[in-house]
Amino acid sequence: MKRSVPDLLQAADPLVMVTAYDYPGARHAEAAGVDLILVGDSLGNVVLGYDSTAPVTLADMIHHGRAVRRGAPGTFVVVDLPFGTYQTGAADAMRSAVQVIQQTGADAVKLEGATPEILEAVTVLTRNGIPVMGHVGLMPQTATAQGGLKVQGRDEEGARRTLDGALALQEAGAFSVVLEAIPARLARLITERLVVPTIGIGAGVHCRGQVLVYHDLLGLYEGDEKKLAKRYAELGRTSREALSAYAREVRAREFPGKEHSFVMKDEVLGKLY
Ligand code: KIV
Repeated sequence: MKRSVPDLLQAADPLVMVTAYDYPGARHAEAAGVDLILVGDSLGNVVLGYDSTAPVTLADMIHHGRAVRRGAPGTFVVVDLPFGTYQTGAADAMRSAVQVIQQTGADAVKLEGATPEILEAVTVLTRNGIPVMGHVGLMPQTATAQGGLKVQGRDEEGARRTLDGALALQEAGAFSVVLEAIPARLARLITERLVVPTIGIGAGVHCRGQVLVYHDLLGLYEGDEKKLAKRYAELGRTSREALSAYAREVRAREFPGKEHSFVMKDEVLGKLY
């Protein structure tokens, strides 16, 4: 059964979240029984081939969010608000979130950071009935300003900023907070301090939930090993091997075989000669 926000807040078991960007991915995630699907703006990297999430647009998120909703009608779906669509003020954030919710059928939106502008946006969105997931630690949309795609919160200042950010997001109304690439002990402390569930990625086992990027989890890119992700399959290799086998069989005229071809009666064919 589809989770609701109160349900997610009260969940005793670890929450399972995975990203999905299209109809088949969403179908697989729903069939596997995950609690939440995130249409992450990581789609910029893993689906659209950009080298960061910054170029991803609201139209991209809506396009992919709609496909995910069609594939997973019974799962709680969160859609990322992309870079530049919410940092400019609560009114812009509200406009972006309303478009996402209305046009994709998503259950919630996620945004990165805990600056005063973003906290204000979270307050306005949640006051108007739009569930918001926060995101602190490593924030890929602004990773350049964070010194690159690096672990955050290792020193006291960074750790305090991450903890304060998570608390402030909760205070502003976020129903959950993603903790990305922070030390496991810091994630544990934040999880203990927060009432709302933390969802970790590269944040240790003590978060109240975990999220992984679909392509990382399934090993869709050969050789792209990441410390924060476990590869549960090697679909990139399987896919390459299958495509190579197809190419070899076409070139050897082994495919299509009789079993993939359609028959015609001799007398019909005879009339054509
Ligand atoms: O965009 C994304 O996939 C994310 C997850 C890594 C949490 O934000």
